[in-house]
Amino acid sequence: MEIKEEMIALASKLKIYQDTYYKEGKSLVSDSEYDRLTDRLIALEKEFPEFAAPDSPTKRVGSDLTNDFPEVQHSIPVLSLDKAYSDESVLDFFSRSIEKKGGELSFAAEEKIDGISMVLYYEDGILVRAVTRGNGSVGNDVTPNIVTIPSIPLSLPESIDIAVRGEVYLPKKEFEKVNATLPDDQKAANPRNLAAGTVRRQKSQEAARIPLDMYCYEGFWGDEEETPKDHLHIMKKLSDLGFRINPDFAFFARTKEEAEAKLKEAGLEGDGYGFNDIKDYISRMTQKRPTLDHEIDGLVFKINELDVRQEFGYTEHHPRWAIAYKFESPQAETVLNSITIQVGRTGRITPVAEIAPTALGGSTIKRATLHNQEYIDSLELAIGDRVSITKRGDVIPAVEEVVEKNEMGNTTYRIPLTCPCCGAELVHKGVHLFCPNYDCPDQAKGRISFFSSRDQMDIESLGPKTVELLWNNKLLKRVEDIYTLDYSKATEMKIQGIGDKTVDALKKGVEESKNRPYTTVLSSLGIPEVGTKTAKILSDGGFDSFEKLRLAAEKGDVEPFLAIKGMGEETAKTLIEAFRDPNLLKTIDALTSLGLHVSEEMDKKEEEDKAQIFTGEVWCVTGSFENFNPRSKALKEIEIRGGRTVSSVTGKTTHLLAGKGGGSKRAEAEKLGVRIINEEEFMLLLGIQIGEKKEEEPKQGFLF
Ligand code: IVH
Repeated sequence: MEIKEEMIALASKLKIYQDTYYKEGKSLVSDSEYDRLTDRLIALEKEFPEFAAPDSPTKRVGSDLTNDFPEVQHSIPVLSLDKAYSDESVLDFFSRSIEKKGGELSFAAEEKIDGISMVLYYEDGILVRAVTRGNGSVGNDVTPNIVTIPSIPLSLPESIDIAVRGEVYLPKKEFEKVNATLPDDQKAANPRNLAAGTVRRQKSQEAARIPLDMYCYEGFWGDEEETPKDHLHIMKKLSDLGFRINPDFAFFARTKEEAEAKLKEAGLEGDGYGFNDIKDYISRMTQKRPTLDHEIDGLVFKINELDVRQEFGYTEHHPRWAIAYKFESPQAETVLNSITIQVGRTGRITPVAEIAPTALGGSTIKRATLHNQEYIDSLELAIGDRVSITKRGDVIPAVEEVVEKNEMGNTTYRIPLTCPCCGAELVHKGVHLFCPNYDCPDQAKGRISFFSSRDQMDIESLGPKTVELLWNNKLLKRVEDIYTLDYSKATEMKIQGIGDKTVDALKKGVEESKNRPYTTVLSSLGIPEVGTKTAKILSDGGFDSFEKLRLAAEKGDVEPFLAIKGMGEETAKTLIEAFRDPNLLKTIDALTSLGLHVSEEMDKKEEEDKAQIFTGEVWCVTGSFENFNPRSKALKEIEIRGGRTVSSVTGKTTHLLAGKGGGSKRAEAEKLGVRIINEEEFMLLLGIQIGEKKEEEPKQGFLF
């Protein structure tokens, strides 16, 4: 057999196998035979590209070539939809349209799939391009990834030119399955984000492994003659051409009977409704929404008659012949002015939306996190776009969607591939980009601020602002430098923002922090996955010193870590990597020689060393304190000195430590003759010098 014939025969065989498997769920051959034939055809296509069919079934498998998604011009307007948030507005759209037309109209109603908008371009019946919406006139060519979706026809039974619009999405169940296999820092927030990431995977082989699907909802024929007369017939035709259309289709006419008759005439499945049924339909779909196998964020109502669509035309942003009913109303709308890039303490890159300040839920929002490139892609977000924002969980502002594309021609934003702080080339780890340079100033400052923050080493007066000042004046470069700070130089330099008071408070804060327990030091180092809880689990599980952690990491075996209840594989791997990193080891060595608690043994020794001055005493604590905040800190000071603490004043209570407020307990103590101690006296008892009042710095955190 000639090569060309063999290739044609292989292609048609594979196509039949694929179609039968996908459409009927039946395998006509064994997996190994199928793979053998595919490999053979791939090899032949590589050797004889001139004989490769443009709709070859090998495209479904994807390849390991790197995609670069060139920008291409759309030949149809790819606009978004005007929005409605109530059934009245939908009814209003119906009646306005009918009035404008001055005659009868009918409307199609479809689910608004929450996925990635896609246009499939066919020439002479062959799929030539799959393009994202982009800014509506220019999108990205993502063909190699899209052709891996089995339900998308690579060729049509008719040799026509047609552009088909639809939504690429990941079914909810598949999302759960795929997401469960991803490590924590790569998990997607929702099916749409995972679908967006897949559509832009660099290797189509990887995209092929994610079971994306597509529903098609509009067709634009190259030849006007061939264009069906209305939406019903467009949908029927698309279905006949082999496109997948959503069976949840509804049709509205003056009466239910009329609607049903039209559906029947077009040969289309679906539910007929009269105009009066809009409210019912919307509430029915709202109820159905959670039971669907895919995410929808609204319903789309479209005028059925194509000549009317043409007559009504388009605004700058949307067709005048359609409207989207949205399930949730936006909280606020604003403009995306720019995107800034933050470098976190672990080197993680976070794009941040800088939006025109807008009031939302009692505060003014100027910024919102955009998480990563995948998130930006899923929104197809460009500078200058009008966006809607909400407060997730009532706290964190989030950009929900693009309401109107910008008119400057800006396309989807791409995060630059170099670190904005140090210029290093960024690296991909899962869905995030990282700056690999340990000495990157933003990372180093972030590490120090994290180390000293309230929930970690809690170093008074060493917040992000002071860290920044000390860093800029070269007095602080690494975490361990905190303990060898040259205070006299700091005073000498007369740094604005670091006065004598700050220096005093710093000295005291740094000194006190030397006594923090081992697990606090461990969690303060900022090792990914190792927070307060994990540090405690590790310590209780036998890794009660840095030395033990280092030795275990040296061996590179995850087993001793996994033997501890509550330890996962990811954390174990991260720990091994961290405790082999010369940078971390250098810091640990320095902290060890500086006398910080690098083992639990040191914690115990310190407790024993504390004079047991409160033995036999029973203390109750009330009110609020300047130096013991939260109050549990005061309780701890009493307990480690042998005292017992109780929550109410009784005849057995020997002392009441009374801070500000706390009226009723004080009265009770007075009545019972219990000794009342104020904060100042208590500090004297503990032998702690009374310092200046704390100057609070804002809690460290990247946006809020
Ligand atoms: S029709 C010219 N129908 O929603 C009219 N859009 O916010 C084109 N969408 O960009 C849109 N399901 O990506 C239409 N059944 C549906 C849809 C749908 C989802 C998306 C589409 C569009 C966006 C508008």
